[in-house]
Amino acid sequence: MPQHAAAAGAPAIGVGFLGAGPVTQAIHLPSLARLDETFRVAHVMDVDSAVASTVAARVGASHSASMESLLDDPAVDVVAICSPHQFHAAQVIAACRAGKKAVLCEKPFAVSADEAAEIAAVSAETGVPILVGAMHTFDPGWLAAEELAGGLLRSAHTLRSSIVLPPNARFEDFATEVIARPAAPERDLEDPAVVAAVLEGGILGLAIHDLPLVRRFVPDFADLEVLRAEAVRPFGYVVLVRAGGRTIELTAQISSGATAAWKPDWTFEAVGPDSALTITFTPSYVQAGSAVAELTAGARTQAAGPFGHNGYEGEWRRIAGIVGGTERAPAASQLIDDLRFAVAIVDGARARVLEAAA
Ligand SMILES: NC(=O)c1ccc[n+]([C@@H]2O[C@H](COP(=O)([O-])OP(=O)(O)OC[C@H]3O[C@@H](n4cnc5c(N)ncnc54)[C@H](O)[C@@H]3O)[C@@H](O)[C@H]2O)c1
Repeated sequence: MPQHAAAAGAPAIGVGFLGAGPVTQAIHLPSLARLDETFRVAHVMDVDSAVASTVAARVGASHSASMESLLDDPAVDVVAICSPHQFHAAQVIAACRAGKKAVLCEKPFAVSADEAAEIAAVSAETGVPILVGAMHTFDPGWLAAEELAGGLLRSAHTLRSSIVLPPNARFEDFATEVIARPAAPERDLEDPAVVAAVLEGGILGLAIHDLPLVRRFVPDFADLEVLRAEAVRPFGYVVLVRAGGRTIELTAQISSGATAAWKPDWTFEAVGPDSALTITFTPSYVQAGSAVAELTAGARTQAAGPFGHNGYEGEWRRIAGIVGGTERAPAASQLIDDLRFAVAIVDGARARVLEAAA
């Protein structure tokens, strides 16, 4: 049962978390702390009740170990889904059916096209606004770049998402003292089934932040084909895709050296015949302002950013606007097509790996 009621005069929008692992602790709670005139954390749920109670105590919220308890809590206006991937779809559906004011689902939205179709039906039936926490889509640097891009949105022939980062734990530790961090699994990259699973994890877990941006340049992906798909050690991927007449390169390398001297890099590029866009994002977890965008056309370069906040805070600002009635949620069909695009790449990558092993 919830153990804490909203205090009189508390900020208007009560947030409930389903899942209170590193992302809740190191990303969302710091974002909400900066927006504490708008949001209060009302309820923290985790299947590990020690995690739920410890995290809840940090922010003065109720806690529980059951989703129903959180959804029944009238102090929860907005549900943030931060559980592992396989639970997202069912929790989004339950939160919509509970009639909450909005749902923020961590990426990925779901893990299959069937789940996407189910969410689409419930979203249409309930009308509850949903956001997917693919953070780059809310980064003011990307939003400004989208405005600058103009004709490049139609003419780009090459899209690149390249990521070189240290392990998440390094950044989590800058943000907070993480309770109950899951251990990194051992992976046997000689086994094609493991390689396929690593690629799925990399595409749905990491590339997914940039795939909605890629799709902005590739609206029609019915002919999508994965030409190359490899997992790299210790964790990463190289995936080459053709879709809608465009070449899409997705690469990631997560280093194992926590104190590596190199600079983390997360770059998205779109290259066309007359112009090129480069967006440099801050690493995941880092909340130090927005991405920086540069559009070059001939001798002319236009720049945008950095702005004061990044995509994590952007997600919550958008929720505040949606709940307050000043902004609209993205169309559910757009989120679902973004997921279908990601799942098509996962399926194509799996087929390439299994084919190479046969
Ligand atoms: N936006 C980002 O930059 C970013 C970064 C990393 C991870 N993520 C996403 O955030 C989500 C959470 O990732 P994480 O790194 O915090 O850790 P995680 O996925 O390992 O676990 C999160 C927590 O969920 C709890 N849990 C397990 N099953 C649950 C259930 N059915 N209901 C509620 N809670 C449950 C676990 O006990 C754990 O405390 C994932 O979907 C991940 O892809 C987002």
